[in-house]
Amino acid sequence: METAMSINIAIDGPAGAGKSTVARRAAEKLGFIYVDTGAMYRAIALYLLRQGVKPEEKEAIAGRCAGAQVSIAYQGGEQIVSLNGENVNGLIRTDEVTRMSSAASAVPAVRARLLDLQRSLAAEHDVIMDGRDIGTCILPDANVKIFLTASTAVRAKRRFDELRAKGDTSETLESVEEKIIRRDEDDRNREISPLREAQDAVHLDTSDMNIDQAVEAVLSICRRKGCLSCDQ
Ligand code: DC
Repeated sequence: METAMSINIAIDGPAGAGKSTVARRAAEKLGFIYVDTGAMYRAIALYLLRQGVKPEEKEAIAGRCAGAQVSIAYQGGEQIVSLNGENVNGLIRTDEVTRMSSAASAVPAVRARLLDLQRSLAAEHDVIMDGRDIGTCILPDANVKIFLTASTAVRAKRRFDELRAKGDTSETLESVEEKIIRRDEDDRNREISPLREAQDAVHLDTSDMNIDQAVEAVLSICRRKGCLSCDQ
């Protein structure tokens, strides 16, 4: 019996561009699985922090990351990230983990740990996968590649509003913007799998779009590329 090839949609872009919200909603509409690869790096970062490793200790990151077993499951459409069997979804969005995930993701041994997991999810399921190097490195043959971005000011304002909505008043808009700029620089300038737009990616700037418009734009790119039917 022939097995149908799965459909793979890759969405890359800088921090705070709205990738995860847009990818999650688009996946829901399509009945695809949404794969948040940033969460996998965050789980490894949490492991390293628990081991007492610091973001600047590249060798310790490379040496210790082998102890982190990351796996993914889905409950009611939500991606559950497990670290050595523990559900860590609620623990990976702190500032400390964010900083460590950016540092750890520049270390080849960390990226190597996640490659097979990401590729096998895409081989087995129809997925929308978001990250920094999905179109350029993980899924070079993805059916659709989108580089989703927005101006730095807009991305900072979205992050800031998210924090305020959670009742977090510890940051100013300026400090949020500074952190976003720093993380973009680190993600773009690292030697291995830097954040960069794939040659065959469609560039989607969502600075002037709300979420519904951005989701519709993603779906319409997929339709244009011929990998969805018109009623999807
Ligand atoms: O998307 P995010 O903010 O959850 O990602 C956290 C960090 O992980 C980000 O700074 C860069 C890194 N990352 C990566 O290097 N490659 C990916 N495919 C996804 C995330």
